[in-house]
Amino acid sequence: MRFDILTLFPAIFDGYLGQSLLKKGIDAGLISVQLHDIRRWSRDKHHKVDDRPFGGGPGMILQVEPVVECVEAVQQLAQPQGLQPGHLVMLSPRGRTLNQKIVEELAAKPRLLVLCGRYEGFDERVFDILQPDEISIGDYVLNGGEVAAMAVIDAVIRLIPGVLGDEESSQHDSFSRSNSSSGNRLLEFPQYSRPREFRGHEVPEVLISGNHEQIARWRREQSYLSTRKRRADLLDDSKHISKDEKD
Ligand code: ADE
Repeated sequence: MRFDILTLFPAIFDGYLGQSLLKKGIDAGLISVQLHDIRRWSRDKHHKVDDRPFGGGPGMILQVEPVVECVEAVQQLAQPQGLQPGHLVMLSPRGRTLNQKIVEELAAKPRLLVLCGRYEGFDERVFDILQPDEISIGDYVLNGGEVAAMAVIDAVIRLIPGVLGDEESSQHDSFSRSNSSSGNRLLEFPQYSRPREFRGHEVPEVLISGNHEQIARWRREQSYLSTRKRRADLLDDSKHISKDEKD
């Protein structure tokens, strides 16, 4: 999968790109990431890309020309090698709120262009012309889209086959589609590792029993109980939960 990140601050991504799963995926040839500095498309000799809003008001607005021209240039990049223009995601607090279903949708695309904003936002004509898929990571305002872009990319790469060591582990994630039998999203069950006892807190007996059927059943119950306790809003359809799991 290919990511093109369009930003005014490419250096923000340096640490993230050189670490963790993303680096593993890049080294294994499963992921490629290209950073593009929007300032390169500035028409100003000082590389300015923002200006005051018409009509007045605080803050600066990202100008339409450098942003649109940068996106168009990146879309056309590498087309001779058969690369598609890509799906354009724009990080923005007014976008649809990210959830696992959207992450799955994005992970199915071969190429994502990830456009990060700064300042008080984009000139509205950026939306009119490019019609991006606007995505928010929550109802709060960040100083820019870069941190949000990393959250999106981080969630997406977990779903690329081969990126996680254990193919199964993203399937058990909270919210994953395969973590439920009816598309209902449940939180992950609790996990334990050694030691078996710490300060009087013991690992549940069933997990040491070796009885895989019982363990699977316990985990399903715990997923349900954890969801009911922490995120009852996710239990919009609990028909598939057996009576004993609910009790
Ligand atoms: N840019 C600023 N705030 C944001 C948010 N909550 N989500 C995505 N991008 C943003």
